[in-house]
Amino acid sequence: MPSPACSVHVPPPTRTPDVLVVGGGIIGLVTAWRSAQRGLATALVDPEPGGGAAQVAAGMLAAVTELHHGEQTLLALNLASARRYPRFAAELTECTGRDLGHRRCGTLAVALDADDRAHLRELHALQQSAGLESEWLSGRECRRLEPMLAPGVRGGLRVDGDHQIDPRRLARALVIACERAGVAFHRVWAERLTVAGDRATGVVTADGTALTAGQTVLAGGSFSGRLAGVPEEVRPPVRPVKGQVLRLTMPRAHGPLLHRTVRAVVRGGHLYLVPRENGELVVGATSEELGWDTTVTAGGVYELLRDAHELVPGITELPLTETRAGLRPGSPDNAPLLGPTGLPGLLLATGHHRNGVLLTPVTGDALGHALVTGELPDEARPFTPRRFDAAPVLTERSA
Ligand code: GLY
Repeated sequence: MPSPACSVHVPPPTRTPDVLVVGGGIIGLVTAWRSAQRGLATALVDPEPGGGAAQVAAGMLAAVTELHHGEQTLLALNLASARRYPRFAAELTECTGRDLGHRRCGTLAVALDADDRAHLRELHALQQSAGLESEWLSGRECRRLEPMLAPGVRGGLRVDGDHQIDPRRLARALVIACERAGVAFHRVWAERLTVAGDRATGVVTADGTALTAGQTVLAGGSFSGRLAGVPEEVRPPVRPVKGQVLRLTMPRAHGPLLHRTVRAVVRGGHLYLVPRENGELVVGATSEELGWDTTVTAGGVYELLRDAHELVPGITELPLTETRAGLRPGSPDNAPLLGPTGLPGLLLATGHHRNGVLLTPVTGDALGHALVTGELPDEARPFTPRRFDAAPVLTERSA
């Protein structure tokens, strides 16, 4: 029996929605779900809800192993979302009856040569200075945990708190949860934001329909900056960062090839192998700034397979079942843009870059709060889109 929070809720069809979410990827969906759960009549516009980058992403919940210098503020948000994941996944499963492939398997980050080892040592020091749990292992200890690793592995970091979820299952479950919560879906492209006076009022869709709403949330991933009609001063500064990802199948007969997520930096490129319980092995990812290009290239596939083979030589025996490319929504500081903009009635939920899957729970909570109160909760305040507002130019007279 679904909990009361998950019960079917269908608002009267003629009512103008309180909230219109533009974009039906996991960030748009979680925003719409939380909005509807808070009693707001909510609509979502996207030709294919549940599509987008979640169809490509590996689904690592890796706040600790993906820590980067200069991203300490983002770390706090990542950790808050990671802590929320077990309850979030349980709630979504309860609402939809769908298993999300949430695996608390931990992560092992390994080094293949002296440079990689120096890089990992530095990451370890950064993790320790941030009070995060990770354990340095020798190469032999790494292979004891993961016997299929190459004999040349020089050492690694064991992070038992970095887990995984299946983003495709997550997206599907969020579509169902939205339907159950009474979100109205418009399966069409949003073409232009409409503004009346000094307020965003909704969008016009590709078929010419005007969809109006009290508040509009722009959650279009890397496309968020491209919606026509958005005034220049509030246009989200997001750009597409292409990631090519492979999917292979691990035969069940010989047991899993890997037991946990394995990551490495190989020749400066980030590589990860994410083994799922159903036998899928996701290998990613390239990081390319090439505009809105989602072509899978021979070079991208070659580099991923070459590096993955160096790390786990047995990988070349596996069937290669899928190659795909998606676009991360990169922002100038690699952190998301959440909440109200300088244009009344327009909010953003975009710019999640490498962390969209990880940040799904906290984004839903932050936007749900902002839609009801007009304010971001404390934890999300540093991620206001207004941090990118142009600084006032100081003239001699004003200085
Ligand atoms: N977080 C993994 C990626 O963006 O490739």
